Amino acid sequence: MAVAAVDRPKPDNSSMMGEAAKAEPITGSRLRFVACVADDVTREAVSRAVAQLGWSNAKVRAGGLEAARRSIDITTPPSLVLVDLSDASDPVEGMHELAQLCGPQTHFLAIGSINDVSLYRQLVALGVADYLVKPVSSELLCEAFASAIRSYASPSEARSTQLFAFVGARGGVGTTTLAVSTAWLLVHEFKLRAALIDLDLHFGNLALSLDLEPGRGLREALENPERTDSMLLASAMVTQGEKLPILATEESLLDQLVFDGGAVAPLLSALSQDYDCLVVDLPRTLDAMGRQVIALADATIIVTDLSLSALRDAVRLSDLAKALESRAKPLLVANQVGADHRGEIGRSEFERGVGGPVDYAVPFDVKAMVAAAHSGKALPEAAGGSKAALELRKLAARLAGREEEKPRGGLLSRFKK
Ligand SMILES: Nc1ncnc2c1ncn2[C@@H]1O[C@H](COP(=O)(O)OP(=O)(O)OP(=O)(O)O)[C@@H](O)[C@H]1O
Ligand SMILES: [Mg+2]
Repeated sequence: MAVAAVDRPKPDNSSMMGEAAKAEPITGSRLRFVACVADDVTREAVSRAVAQLGWSNAKVRAGGLEAARRSIDITTPPSLVLVDLSDASDPVEGMHELAQLCGPQTHFLAIGSINDVSLYRQLVALGVADYLVKPVSSELLCEAFASAIRSYASPSEARSTQLFAFVGARGGVGTTTLAVSTAWLLVHEFKLRAALIDLDLHFGNLALSLDLEPGRGLREALENPERTDSMLLASAMVTQGEKLPILATEESLLDQLVFDGGAVAPLLSALSQDYDCLVVDLPRTLDAMGRQVIALADATIIVTDLSLSALRDAVRLSDLAKALESRAKPLLVANQVGADHRGEIGRSEFERGVGGPVDYAVPFDVKAMVAAAHSGKALPEAAGGSKAALELRKLAARLAGREEEKPRGGLLSRFKK
């Protein structure tokens, strides 16, 4: 359990490791994670957490401070180190020495068996992101890792770019439709700079749904995260009406694509320089990258229909999102509501099964979808007066943090006609 009951001061940025956090974002290079943990149970929990986050570069070793000192390769220092202080005679001094050895690029989390507020404060004052007290679950570790990355992901404390991850409970529920519609609304109704990213490099149809040729460059950016920068990405984007840039590709099915979980963070970090919001359409396979996006997201939007199969997977996705990120509870959006052919079990039964309300319910609206598909436009543009568009606007308003605002540009008035 983390020392959660005490008043936790923010890491002191004037400290050595605090300066390190400012000096280089943890996501600026391929993420290298090293954990040195003394006992088997915690080590297994750490291994499960890094697997969940998709950190293929992670090394989980037995031991504590001494093992960390011996095993860390200072020519390529790790980005994040978790070190077990249980057996350390002087944990604060040991931590200080380890930090000096690794240099300013490395960030730290500590774990131990002593629940001592003063130790916690001293470690935090050194710049350690958190001190966790054993026993710790893999869920708690996941949260701590994701939060450490987030706090160091950007050199500035307040990362202003919002990351929205859309993931479908089942295939074909309308995840891409909703991601596109939401991004369009964020740009056109809420006047935010938004970019759409399709992380399904084989089957993604985000560009296609807007009648655009997917660009080139996304794969390269993910394969060479150390070379990713905003100029390169800008040239890889295709744009609808100059206002909704899309990063997508259509890679050959002959190519088996496996990217490191840490590859996507540099891409998002580079894009965040140019956009207020990044809307990511995630494939349901949820590979390492997908998990990383959920871990980093400000909001995860689970798109579902009201069928029994989707109910099962919406619950499982919601649990995964909670395990991976601590920023906000995932939003549950039911789509194609009222479609006879989707095997609906009814909204109230679905909500009972999920154990909470559906946040938004977008009706099944063939007319609106046909209008969107035929024109190659986002649904709110092609059928702005539809009930589906109205519900999507509520979702976009929530994500834009502008729920109280009245619709602009006559969306509501068009609907009322
Ligand atoms: N609210 C809706 N009403 C009617 N049709 C819809 C609605 N939402 C989506 N559709 C239709 O459902 C189909 C699937 O939509 P979409 O491609 O967005 O789903 P997806 O979940 O992203 O699919 P995939 O699993 O292949 O990525 C499309 O033909 C789309 O037009
Ligand atoms: Mg899709």
